[in-house]
Amino acid sequence: MSTDHNPGEAEEEGGAPSPHGVVPTPVSVSRVRREMAGVVTLELTPASAFGFVPGQFNMLYMFGLGEVAISLSGAPAEENRVVHTVRAVGAVTQAITRLRRNDVVGVRGPYGSYWPVLESEGNDVVIVAGGIGLAPLRPVIYRVLAHRQRYGRVVVLYGARGPADILYRRELEAWQRHLDVDIMVTVDHAAADWRGNVGVVPALIGRAPIDPDHTVAMVCGPEIMMRFTIEALRQRGLVTDRIFLSMERNMKCAIGFCGHCQFGPAFVCRDGPVFRFDRIAPFFNIREI
Ligand SMILES: Cc1cc2nc3c(=O)[nH]c(=O)nc-3n(C[C@H](O)[C@H](O)[C@H](O)COP(=O)(O)OP(=O)(O)OC[C@H]3O[C@@H](n4cnc5c(N)ncnc54)[C@H](O)[C@@H]3O)c2cc1C
Ligand code: FES
Repeated sequence: MSTDHNPGEAEEEGGAPSPHGVVPTPVSVSRVRREMAGVVTLELTPASAFGFVPGQFNMLYMFGLGEVAISLSGAPAEENRVVHTVRAVGAVTQAITRLRRNDVVGVRGPYGSYWPVLESEGNDVVIVAGGIGLAPLRPVIYRVLAHRQRYGRVVVLYGARGPADILYRRELEAWQRHLDVDIMVTVDHAAADWRGNVGVVPALIGRAPIDPDHTVAMVCGPEIMMRFTIEALRQRGLVTDRIFLSMERNMKCAIGFCGHCQFGPAFVCRDGPVFRFDRIAPFFNIREI
């Protein structure tokens, strides 16, 4: 793998498209899927082809309420569908999760850096996700499965609070049936009828098939989960320039202008959200940043 991943540079195939401007475009909702309590996946139908690279996000604008950053969670090859999975946490995301078919939402993007999916060809790939952190990584899984022969071993480790909180459950089960993908799911707490793993997702890393010299790891979830995941990956021998993670900060402009998303010397909207870990390690462990 080229270890000098610079998400700002265009790639040979599917390079980061330039953002479609800073004014939201009204786009109608073509499908709403209720994933679980408080979480929906929306399919939007853009007026023209919409390209993005796994890891990027859009700003979704609810008219009169406000705008939030939401990752693209669909297949990058499908340019006539824009897919977002949203969890209701506050005013804007609650309104988004109440949207119905044919409602309209403002969209601008795509913005931000991306996962090193192309640079990882020829390597093993380990995807580690917690909770809704699987949403920004799902496009990586789609792309890797679409070009399965270009990658070595593929491992997906996913953790949710409980069995009812497992995102994309049917797809995880379908991926699990792929003989050439290792999927391990764990939950923090479960009733006696749960036959799967119980425990936090970093605990799966010790048991996962990982060859540290040939593996690229992509991690997304709550910051505390990412801290323990990185520690576990390093214990397995992964060097920090083979670990990538997606950071979340409150966003306003999304174009590196307002400073709301500052993270140490970086702006998450412009320099992230996907960072190679060695580039942010000095300030990743400082909680106030
Ligand atoms: C690059 C990026 C990609 C994201 N992708 C997704 C996604 O795919 N799906 C999804 O559901 N959410 C995603 N988020 C988080 C989403 O943007 C926030 O949940 C949203 O901004 C909350 O807005 P609100 O008005 O609904 O709630 P608010 O009223 O603004 O906030 C409610 C609570 O959430 C906290 N909060 C708000 N924004 C953030 C944030 N960015 N990070 C951490 N805590 C926050 C607030 O402190 C408060 O406690 C992403 C964020 C970023 C930066
Ligand atoms: S949101 Fe304005 S600088 Fe990042």
